[in-house]
Amino acid sequence: MKISVIGCGYLGAVHAVAMAELGHQVVGVDVDAHRISELNSGRVPFYEPQVAQILSLALARGRVAFSTDIAAVAGSRVHFLAVGTPQRPNSQAADLAAVDAAVGALIPHLRPGDLVVGKSTVPVGTAAALAARLSAECPGVMLAWNPEFLKEGSAVKDTISPDRIVYGLPPGGDAEVARAYLDDVYARAVDDGTPVVVTDYQTAELSKVAANAFLATKISFINAMAEIAEVVDADVTKLADAIGHDGRIGRKFLNAGVGFGGGCLPKDIRAFTARAEELGCGESVSFLKAVDAINVRQRQRVVDLVVALLGGEIYQKRVAILGLSFKPDSDDIRDSPALDVAVQLKGLGADVVAVDPQAISHAMRKHPQLTFTENVATALDGAHATVLVTEWKTFTELDPTWAASLVRRPIIVDARNCLDRQAWRSAGWVYRGIGRN
Ligand code: UDX
Repeated sequence: MKISVIGCGYLGAVHAVAMAELGHQVVGVDVDAHRISELNSGRVPFYEPQVAQILSLALARGRVAFSTDIAAVAGSRVHFLAVGTPQRPNSQAADLAAVDAAVGALIPHLRPGDLVVGKSTVPVGTAAALAARLSAECPGVMLAWNPEFLKEGSAVKDTISPDRIVYGLPPGGDAEVARAYLDDVYARAVDDGTPVVVTDYQTAELSKVAANAFLATKISFINAMAEIAEVVDADVTKLADAIGHDGRIGRKFLNAGVGFGGGCLPKDIRAFTARAEELGCGESVSFLKAVDAINVRQRQRVVDLVVALLGGEIYQKRVAILGLSFKPDSDDIRDSPALDVAVQLKGLGADVVAVDPQAISHAMRKHPQLTFTENVATALDGAHATVLVTEWKTFTELDPTWAASLVRRPIIVDARNCLDRQAWRSAGWVYRGIGRN
């Protein structure tokens, strides 16, 4: 199929190359000329396993091209909207300016029978409003909403072999036509038996924010348990195992630690709350404010723990920060708990040295006041305290005896509960996890 993807950020670029990998002919469009020229040269402007490989293959096969000119969508039958919906600067709500601009730019190039497919995460009701706009300005063009559930670090796999696909279809006869287009786009996954949930716009929109709200709630739930565990000297990791064996609960997303970050979970729960309040049903999701508050508190608790372990004397103490990205296998620092902890400690007067395998250039641009190194030994050298905040493999596999030989004081805060505490204690470290006795 001939497909266009409007917006070539994380979501759009991955979607474009994954669609090309599935055999479609794809054009990606973005207003950012630098990003487009990078992609056309086979360079991926972010770190995500597999994307560079399938991009260069798709370029070599002539299956994908990128352009800043929206007219390049001509000839495509299906147009994916994959632009960002960030949090508005002075509000909790989502900013839909990019969605509106993309649709406005696309409209003159649409032909009757084309299908526009929303992938961006939007407040419920957005699709219906866009469908009304399309029907007024380009009759005969259809709209579907097909939320994206990909996770950073496994984005290609999640796109090519998703665990489910959601089609939010238009009412009436267009539903069948739109569904047939989407079945063609996702033919491989559909043939492989991937569950397809067919529904209306509003349920499709809600399914994305509800999924993220649930995941965020699970993480904040276990972090709340971690706070209790600390008070009563229990072990939250064992607690998560104990409850996670219950198939109704499940062990995934029950890892206590410094909490969730990234470009989705924090802003999506805030936008969901803001939208529910607009709709007059804010009370129903008011618990998400507690979920958010627990999450923000986790970062503060890690900072407080470091200060306490240093006997309250943080000024000019050297603190090694292991990790900057919001999770491993990503260079994304959006709302990163790790970066937040580093910045807070620096603000308290600590001499912070941060190490990360991928995120340094982004972090340096945003927080030039921090000191960065690509070398773990340099970060550990002479440290009064060490904080593991992102569980990159290179940190979880550190040899505690070797690490102890580099630091000034062997104090480690394992803010992801990912180290073998017995091994670290045996190597002479003062080890503190989150919610672990
Ligand atoms: C998330 C959703 O998982 C995905 O479906 C959606 O499309 C986009 O948002 P992503 O932001 O890539 O994906 O990250 P995810 O793997 O969900 O992790 C989010 C945050 O939660 C990370 O900061 C991670 O470290 C943290 N986390 C995750 C925990 O603190 N504990 C856990 O048990 C799991």
